[in-house]
Amino acid sequence: MCGGDPRFGSQLVEAGPGVAEVISAVPFQENPPLSSDWLRSEMLERFQVIRPVEIDPGTRVLEVGAGAHAISTVPLAYRVGAQGRVVAVERERWTHFREVVHAVGLADRILPLTCDARRLPFRSNVFELGACIHGIRSLRSEGRMVEVFQEMLRVAPRILLAESLPLARNPAQRAHLAMYDLRQEIFEALNGVPDDLHYLSLDRLVGLVERAGGSVLQARVVEVDLPHALAYLPRAYVQRVPDPQKREDLLHRWDGAEQLRRRYGADHPPVGVIVAEVAY
Ligand SMILES: C[S@@+](CC[C@H](N)C(=O)[O-])C[C@H]1O[C@@H](n2cnc3c(N)ncnc32)[C@H](O)[C@@H]1O
Repeated sequence: MCGGDPRFGSQLVEAGPGVAEVISAVPFQENPPLSSDWLRSEMLERFQVIRPVEIDPGTRVLEVGAGAHAISTVPLAYRVGAQGRVVAVERERWTHFREVVHAVGLADRILPLTCDARRLPFRSNVFELGACIHGIRSLRSEGRMVEVFQEMLRVAPRILLAESLPLARNPAQRAHLAMYDLRQEIFEALNGVPDDLHYLSLDRLVGLVERAGGSVLQARVVEVDLPHALAYLPRAYVQRVPDPQKREDLLHRWDGAEQLRRRYGADHPPVGVIVAEVAY
């Protein structure tokens, strides 16, 4: 579902030999119907998203919501260099994390830590940067987002947030949003708790950072132009929704979204990137 996209190859070349070397060491993943290079493509997107942000070699980074594949942890670890460190905080999902960070040769810069980012076990300002890349969507409510941003601003004087925006500039981005926007409701219907919340606008994200006590230094939109296969959920998964009316409605919308995806593919929407510091 993203294999062989020519944009991946050309952007890999543009990213430079160091990034290309890291990406080419990322293990292939067998998760049909996703193509086996989906993790490489997603990781390249994370490299692109943090590229405009100043991260000095030697920086100590606290990352929130690292996820099961270290997709954003590896780019952060690459950017901090051999003297830097990334403490990667994750509440529960570590499935391929060790395998990936070892495969790319950056495991010695990365310290994984299982905990809830709303209560980080660190003294104030022990890090130089707090980062949450494509993880805000998983924080389950705006109230929790504020709590997590507050905690990040307590342990680091500067934070970097990146999250997809609810914007579509072409049919492939519209196709991504159509499928992605079903996820919150599907997870809620199946598990009783929402996950993968609808993307927030950049203004709304800025407002939440300010509520958390942050002063925004930069808020920019990064256009990625890469495929994005990860919103996809199998139809069989939606068929497990117990409420018949809800199931019918979701299946109908899933069919529409899948039709768009087959016709246009699915691309990353523009990404909002925010850098903020503690407001005095
Ligand atoms: C979308 S996923 C992975 C994001 C990853 N950084 C990336 O670039 O794809 C976000 C992760 O945040 C984790 N998460 C959600 N709430 C959390 C919390 N309160 N503390 C720590 N991790 C959390 C989830 O378990 C999930 O694995």
